[in-house]
Amino acid sequence: MGILLPDGGFSSVYGEKDNLAFSKKLISGTGATFKMRKLSVKDLDLKGKKVLVRVDFNVSLDEEGRVRDDTRIRAALPTINYILERGASLILLSHLGRPGGKVVERLRLDPVARRLKEVIERPVLKTDECIGEKIEQTCRSMKPGDIVLLENVRFHKEECQNDPGFARKLASLADLFVNDAFGTAHRAHASTVGVTRFLPAAAGLLMQTELEMLGELLERPQRPFVAILGGAKISDKIGILHNFLKRCQDILVGGGMAYTFLKAQGAKVGRSLVEEEKIEEARRILKEASREGCRIRLPLDHLVAREARDGIGVRVVDRGEISPDYISLDIGPRTIELFSGIIRKAKTVFWNGPLGVFELASFSKGTRAIAKILAESEATVVVGGGETVSALREFGVEDKMTHVSTGGGASLAFLEGLELPAVASLTDKK
Ligand code: 3PG
Repeated sequence: MGILLPDGGFSSVYGEKDNLAFSKKLISGTGATFKMRKLSVKDLDLKGKKVLVRVDFNVSLDEEGRVRDDTRIRAALPTINYILERGASLILLSHLGRPGGKVVERLRLDPVARRLKEVIERPVLKTDECIGEKIEQTCRSMKPGDIVLLENVRFHKEECQNDPGFARKLASLADLFVNDAFGTAHRAHASTVGVTRFLPAAAGLLMQTELEMLGELLERPQRPFVAILGGAKISDKIGILHNFLKRCQDILVGGGMAYTFLKAQGAKVGRSLVEEEKIEEARRILKEASREGCRIRLPLDHLVAREARDGIGVRVVDRGEISPDYISLDIGPRTIELFSGIIRKAKTVFWNGPLGVFELASFSKGTRAIAKILAESEATVVVGGGETVSALREFGVEDKMTHVSTGGGASLAFLEGLELPAVASLTDKK
């Protein structure tokens, strides 16, 4: 069934030591370039074919093991339906969590299969493995319209090692490969990169939308272009900061990462989260921003408490006035006002990372206020990152954004300007 590509050669990503690493190569083009160069599911002749589709069903589960958030399952539906409507059968492949190359019972894909059946309203056969004799038989007997969901691909250590033998086994189940797992596109794994050596490999509809929407931010954002960056750590955002300060007029910084910047400027930050080893980097970023004419806006005031829990006494203090036993847990009212004013004038906004500990009602005001302003905004608003998306959902404004990315790490890597290996390895258009 599988089509072995003639060259037989493997790219340098094979044998990658760091099994969660992604390419550090800078991308040569973004959304538009991709659209012209890579095969799309729409370019494939699907009738009567078996299609292996890599999806990212890495969803959060609740304590009972049920799917808590089915956004990623729903996001794959356009591609799934497109393929089925054209008379093909569908073999879905995903990871869930990081089982480390062995079977972890609570990371089986059965709850995902149950939810998929509900949303797609069709039978889905969930298997207990993703390779092997039995799976080959099951796939061989599939008829057009059939759907099989294979077991968690990360139960095999060969997946994250991008093992060619394992990739070949996966590929042998199908005639064509479609990658719709944008959220995993920064991983050079057997099911994202390896299989593309053995099958014609096309981008799914979600993958295309993500690349186009995020590509627009890098290629031709309407100005003023404003980025809102939050979350705990500056270390996760260094790449995007460097890339965005050449493009944005303002970068609004909140959340834990603001305190490494503030400490770099000599402000008193109390017990707020600081990455000491990144203080020098923070100074460099501030200098680079001023050279590039980008304003990095740090909080003017803070909501502080002695610890992060609801019901505890909170105070608003100005920048530089956080006393030693207090932690800043949200932006203060003057910062909300400053950020809101800038966002109201923006034509394009990218947001990644909450601005406070929004999971606790006492410290959710800043993140909620910014979400509300964005929901009312006429600007193109693109949001990425699991926590930020959860915040939007909690505040009931997720559908008011122009695009909510299904990728956390992948969207950051793309916006840093890095090549996504799973995109680079898709088949080039003739
Ligand atoms: C994600 O949730 O960001 C993707 O599914 C990738 O997961 P990973 O970080 O475990 O590779």
